[in-house]
Amino acid sequence: MRKRILFVDDEPNVLQGLHRMLHPMRQAWDMAFAESAEAALALLAQAPFDVVVSDMRMPKMDGAQLLAEIRQRYPRVVRIILSGHSDQGMVLRSVGAAHQYLAKPCDAEMVKATVARACALQNLVADAALQQLVTGMEKLPSLPMLYLEVTKIIASPHGSLEQVGEVVARDIGMAAKLLQLVNSAFFGLRRQVSSPVEAVKLLGLDTVKALVLSVQVFAQFEPSLLLPLSLHALWEHSLATGSCAKSIARLEKSDRQAIDEAYMVGLLHDVGQLILAANLPEQYAKALVLAQEHHIPDWEAERAIFGASHGEVGAYLLGLWGLPETVTEALAFHHCPSAHPQPIFSPLTVVHVANGLVQEETIADPSILIDLEYLTALGCRERLTGWREHYRTSCTAAARA
Ligand SMILES: [Fe+2]
Ligand SMILES: [Fe+2]
Repeated sequence: MRKRILFVDDEPNVLQGLHRMLHPMRQAWDMAFAESAEAALALLAQAPFDVVVSDMRMPKMDGAQLLAEIRQRYPRVVRIILSGHSDQGMVLRSVGAAHQYLAKPCDAEMVKATVARACALQNLVADAALQQLVTGMEKLPSLPMLYLEVTKIIASPHGSLEQVGEVVARDIGMAAKLLQLVNSAFFGLRRQVSSPVEAVKLLGLDTVKALVLSVQVFAQFEPSLLLPLSLHALWEHSLATGSCAKSIARLEKSDRQAIDEAYMVGLLHDVGQLILAANLPEQYAKALVLAQEHHIPDWEAERAIFGASHGEVGAYLLGLWGLPETVTEALAFHHCPSAHPQPIFSPLTVVHVANGLVQEETIADPSILIDLEYLTALGCRERLTGWREHYRTSCTAAARA
């Protein structure tokens, strides 16, 4: 089915420009153009759209208000803001409502690539209700202890960016949200940022303060929420996988960027479990029972219950948030790397192995964890022993410390 895309801008010239630039896409997309937020809402009321790209500065209802309204009424729609660099304060207001930001003046290839990627991501999660749940998510919940630590540091007159960065780097929800923002076109950085500590430094203390205190981009878990999995166990596993992935990247003599990326994919690789368990706890509990009763991995049981595994669900959300494709692919395929169409050494390889090494001493059948055929096809099967030894040595050293 052709995807339906809606562009909203109060300047007719911008709309005409988009119309002209995107003319070659008319076979793939059904495009509509609205000159105001009100006109956009009227079009949405007539027929569903897959993606909305809206200008920020518009009279009456602005882009942030429009996207917030769309999130409420039509949570399945992917929401993208098109803004100029002078709109920083306004853009901060749209942080919860927008998935991604495009900078004005916009480049045709950038608009095409961003919209096309948003459309392609929808294939990861086929179930419409699950897709709607993930697309409608504004933020990911944080571990209460870490959330409180960040708010304390920010409120303290002696709080530093380094301290905030170190705490953010230990939390799945806060790290994912800051990486979404710092990598958006809005901040105009020409390179990809993969380190949460660097993300905090680049945003600066004032922006981070505004994001945490007034925009409230972070949220802690509702203490009343009964989850079918242990949050602490998930956090420990994610941190251990992040550190192990980082060590593998170092052993492979990867550059600084790849080492940061390895840590990030390790920290975030099971974010889908968090999304499913926090939003659909009863069904998630059923998936865990199914996995136990049938002796199948949890991700297979999730596919049976939700039509998608936690890998795909996590990749869908972080893809919507504009995190790089190498990251989302690593998430989507971390339990089944052989299914990836391009067998090359990548963050996927690193996170697949790290996840396996971290779990292999705690499960009954560790042979299901690491895909040896995949490593053989990549020509790095013999390096597994060295990675494992390094990981175990570091665990013993940490236990002694
Ligand atoms: Fe996983
Ligand atoms: Fe995992």
